[in-house]
Amino acid sequence: MKNLSILGLLILLFVSCNSNTKKTNATVQNNTPVGQNKSKLKASIERGKMVYNDMCTTCHLPNGKGIPRAFPPLADSDYLRDNQTESIKAVKFGLSGEIKVNGITYNSMMAPLGLSNEEVADVMNYINNSWGNSIDNFVTPEKVSEL
Ligand code: HEC
Repeated sequence: MKNLSILGLLILLFVSCNSNTKKTNATVQNNTPVGQNKSKLKASIERGKMVYNDMCTTCHLPNGKGIPRAFPPLADSDYLRDNQTESIKAVKFGLSGEIKVNGITYNSMMAPLGLSNEEVADVMNYINNSWGNSIDNFVTPEKVSEL
């Protein structure tokens, strides 16, 4: 646990150094070397894991499988895979009404969780890249704020 928090700190430090250099060039987003994006994504996933463990496990469970007919799965969810924008909105603003996830209909509601745009981005990157998921969509706070 102690080692983990030190690792977290190092990653944070690394990310904040990176974001300083980023501000100097507005077009850097498109020119960022792949390696740099990869480590940013990795750091975001690490932070997202903490958000997930705090805010989401009660319903979607630590393994992301949810509870069929009550809480939809995030692991191997066709909804999450095919509806990234809707999923980001759901995490930011809540979701209610009928949706279909892996062939099962849910007609329930998820209350808004009060997360910042950064926390939404981090937790999305975590669920997109956990439990065998590998959804190729690097969510940034900027993308969240555009919704
Ligand atoms: C109180 C229970 C609860 C909590 C806490 C909760 N959810 Fe949900 N979530 C639901 C329910 C219920 C639905 C389906 C809503 C509907 O039927 O319209 C849902 C739907 C979703 C969906 C879209 C459907 C799918 O399975 O792909 C995503 C993505 C999602 N939640 C992510 C999260 C994330 C990320 C968190 C934590 C930040 C979270 N949820 C916290 C209950 C919850």
